[in-house]
Amino acid sequence: MNQDISLPGAGPAVPRPSPQDAVEPAPEAIQNAWVQDWRAQEERALADPQAYWASRAQELEWSQTWDTVLDDSRAPFFRWFTGARTNIVTNAVDRHLLTARKNKLALIWVGEDTEQVRTYSYFSLAREVDTMANILRAMGVEKGDVVTIYLPRIPEVFFAMLACAKIGAIHSVVFAGYSSDALAARIDDSQSRVVITADGSWVNGKVFPLKDLVDEAVRFSPTVRSVIVVRNTGTTVEMDPTRHHWYHEMCQLPIAKGRCATEQVDAEDPLFILYTSGSTGAPKAIMHTHGGYMVGTYATLRDSFDIHDEDRWWCTADPGWITGHSYLVYGPLLNGATVFMYEGSPTYPYPDRWWEMVERYGITSFYTAPTAIRTLMRFGEAWVRRHDLSSLRLLGSVGEPLNPEAWRWFHHVVGQDRCPIIDTWWQTETGMFQITTVPTMPGKPGAAGRPVFGQEAAVVDENGVEVEDGTEGFLVLKHPWPAMLRTIYGQDERYVNTYWSTYPGLYLTGDSAKRDADGWFWIIGRTDDVIKVSGHRLGTAEIESALLTHPDVVEAAAIGLPHAVKGNAVHCAVVLAPGVEPDRHLEDGLRRHIAATLSPIAKPDSFEFPEALPKTRSGKIVRRVLRARALGQDEGDLSTLDDA
Ligand code: WTA
Repeated sequence: MNQDISLPGAGPAVPRPSPQDAVEPAPEAIQNAWVQDWRAQEERALADPQAYWASRAQELEWSQTWDTVLDDSRAPFFRWFTGARTNIVTNAVDRHLLTARKNKLALIWVGEDTEQVRTYSYFSLAREVDTMANILRAMGVEKGDVVTIYLPRIPEVFFAMLACAKIGAIHSVVFAGYSSDALAARIDDSQSRVVITADGSWVNGKVFPLKDLVDEAVRFSPTVRSVIVVRNTGTTVEMDPTRHHWYHEMCQLPIAKGRCATEQVDAEDPLFILYTSGSTGAPKAIMHTHGGYMVGTYATLRDSFDIHDEDRWWCTADPGWITGHSYLVYGPLLNGATVFMYEGSPTYPYPDRWWEMVERYGITSFYTAPTAIRTLMRFGEAWVRRHDLSSLRLLGSVGEPLNPEAWRWFHHVVGQDRCPIIDTWWQTETGMFQITTVPTMPGKPGAAGRPVFGQEAAVVDENGVEVEDGTEGFLVLKHPWPAMLRTIYGQDERYVNTYWSTYPGLYLTGDSAKRDADGWFWIIGRTDDVIKVSGHRLGTAEIESALLTHPDVVEAAAIGLPHAVKGNAVHCAVVLAPGVEPDRHLEDGLRRHIAATLSPIAKPDSFEFPEALPKTRSGKIVRRVLRARALGQDEGDLSTLDDA
């Protein structure tokens, strides 16, 4: 049993599972749903998961078909669709050009000021991707090379990701809210030679200087040979003529022109790495591949969000997170959907910005995060009622538990009691939904739903034995799935230890959950040292290392505490250097330091300044005690603590 894990998680209190609460979908919402008899489909898929996934894979194009659907001979290094050849771009872009979708809008983009609008048909998206791919090729980027993408929510992030995939390069998107230190660490770890960025990004009416941060990050990075800079904010930036290239200038070069063939790659060739936080140590690079990831994101989005050609799909996630990868870029394009992307935030300049967009662009399917729902809920329903939201058909949520109160508000006020709520539980590692509903299933406020077709989940105790329904335990997944991570890039052993060693044969999610008598799963929260703050995944270890680089800090521990809007808030216990007195000024300084060395999203909400941290005799910080103290609860058994 992994010692790092302890129940309960830091998530909000879970309501008692009550199957009676189920909300049946409105008949008009499910008339044309792809999945009608979900029980039959669930049974069919579970009877033979591999046959099920093969049939889903056949809905897509492969230049060579597979020898084996699932090769588990080297488990847990599972391989899917072995021997097959394809490219995710063949299916996300190219195949649509042979149909009427060629002229369909692939992307509608609206800038933060809402005056700037750019639209791309599948045809013009293909041309843009070719241009970016030609440029990358001309810079010497080859199959298997890692390209770092550090861009705001602008169309070029689509072009860059798809261009990398097209030529078989591996993209590593870094959230454009990370600091230069965090960016540098990710560039170094992945040894990437090209960085794609922008001059700046718009954040609530102000320019965030992306290019300056890239300059700082690559100053000491010998691997980076070229930086491609997209002009976005028009900010003045320093350009080093030997390494920095304006994207719009490169587009005019002869090498950028013309078509770029989509490289047919092995199904198991890497598509991207994405860094995410774990319990310990530096962020880990989760690796996904072309074939399985393509099948998984395509099928799950189609089933759960019932994608039809007439839909307008809006996923509010940033491309820097897995949700942006799977369900803003790849999943929707694989389904030939029209994707909407908005550059700004939901509350700037007013808290009806999103509803204004839904009305103006006729959004049918809207996928967002609980923290955003709770934030907008606080502003009151009048902001929502100002807009005609009758185009909406389906609503979705991801990132942390959607508490029943927020579920009901979303359903009633935004969805006007008409739109099913699809709560999707999954992870950077899983690549695709794992526990969710399809529109024909009843929704239960506060529950995520059922394992996706072909998957089974379980709730187990510390010995790996399934607990009774209604009892909290560790959430595990029973079957491999196509979009699963293949490894932690360059750290195979860490992959095995983190996910597959605690309960042999079961995938450890790191979450705690309950299952109810109907088979619906209620997610409670993380059981390890990962904190979800406003849906962003942070590791306590990262926050602590950031604090430890501050001259006034001797020791630090970060924990998550329940927060009504953000889900969790970061609380830090800091032992100060001798002679340093804690005050407001110092706290602000520590916050600024974390923002600058990690990210503003990691800024702590509260601090305490004890003389020492509670530790075991072997020196491990006992967060359980810190959490109890901060919440004013019983500290529990202290006998294993070091007296000192
Ligand atoms: C949490 C985000 C409850 C969970 C796609 C998981 C959720 C972690 C839900 C992964 C949900 C995600 N209900 N909790 N619908 N979705 N989580 O890697 O703790 O950023 O382990 O992936 O988010 O976060 P990640």
